[in-house]
Amino acid sequence: MTASERPLLEIRELGVSFDTDEGMVRAVDGVSFVARQGRTLGIVGESGSGKSVATKAVIRLLPANARIDPGSAILLRRDDGEVDIAGLPAKGREVRRLRGGDIGMIFQEPMASFSPVYTIGNQMMEAILEHRDHLARRIGGSFDRKTAREHAIRMLERVGMSNARLRIDQYPHELSGGMRQRAMIALALSTHPSLLIADEPTTALDVTIQAQILDLMLELQQELGMAMLFITHDMGVIAQIAEDVAVMYLGRIVERGPTREVIREPAHPYTRGLLAALPRLDTGRRRLTPVPGDIPSPLQRPAGCPFHTRCPQRMPGLCDRLVPGDTPLDATRSVACHLYGEGAP
Ligand SMILES: Nc1ncnc2c1ncn2[C@@H]1O[C@H](COP(=O)(O)OP(=O)(O)OP(=O)(O)O)[C@@H](O)[C@H]1O
Ligand SMILES: [Mg+2]
Repeated sequence: MTASERPLLEIRELGVSFDTDEGMVRAVDGVSFVARQGRTLGIVGESGSGKSVATKAVIRLLPANARIDPGSAILLRRDDGEVDIAGLPAKGREVRRLRGGDIGMIFQEPMASFSPVYTIGNQMMEAILEHRDHLARRIGGSFDRKTAREHAIRMLERVGMSNARLRIDQYPHELSGGMRQRAMIALALSTHPSLLIADEPTTALDVTIQAQILDLMLELQQELGMAMLFITHDMGVIAQIAEDVAVMYLGRIVERGPTREVIREPAHPYTRGLLAALPRLDTGRRRLTPVPGDIPSPLQRPAGCPFHTRCPQRMPGLCDRLVPGDTPLDATRSVACHLYGEGAP
């Protein structure tokens, strides 16, 4: 393992439930994964599969009715040792220091990151000054209002904003959608986080701008040596940006491995369904066969394999009774499906 592949974030057996008026919603059910320095892990799955909840747990941004299982571990490696984020008080100083410092975040909607009443520059400078110790450790130097402003301008230039020196004093609503997305990336990266969490950051953008933003993110990731968690429901986006992929369904990871191999030879029937819904690269024609059937309500998780109610290859008596464990396919790939487990047909 090279230094650039050091595990930066390791999640073990993460479980998250919501207490609701209708009952317990099990949103994340025993999820484990590793994000490595300088690499991107894509998390893909349909709406409601638990992608956002799993990654919001990492920054402890869950609503008050959420509960993280006591046995969960969210281990972040830092220069001064390892911290288990799952064990920290959600509103404590330590979590605030990690959020926006060691861990940067970008979302689909830039207005979730920006306040409408302050200029872009003011908000970037505030983040830089709040995390000035972290930033100084990452890139050296010291930060006061003047140097923070210069750093913010450099970051805006770095994400391709023309006239950054003027734009920095604009309000978020004065920028176009694409520019706002760039400003949000600049804000998230201005503290040089070691981990970037990107939750559908390009979904709202048109295809050309989406491709530009993805390229920019890859470039910045290489430059800063960050680990990245990239969340999307789009396998095509995963293919462009992530070396590794974890496929989620109803709160569980059903398949994982290097993206290229998973796409070339998907093992789980759900992954095959997701890929069949992609436009063909050679003909450009979209086969209109998304995975048939609806995702069951998380209030009524099916017994056994969560996917068995929609699975074209379900084996009655097995898949509807027993939750499949993770079966390794080789050194880097695994699948949670009875077709591959012990005693498989
Ligand atoms: N505050 C909440 N209270 C109750 N249930 C919630 C809450 N937030 C999320 N959930 C449930 O948790 C499950 C996972 O939601 P999550 O937002 O992580 O899905 P997702 O994979 O990110 O979907 P999308 O692609 O739509 O963003 C869903 O069933 C959702 O309804
Ligand atoms: Mg989501």
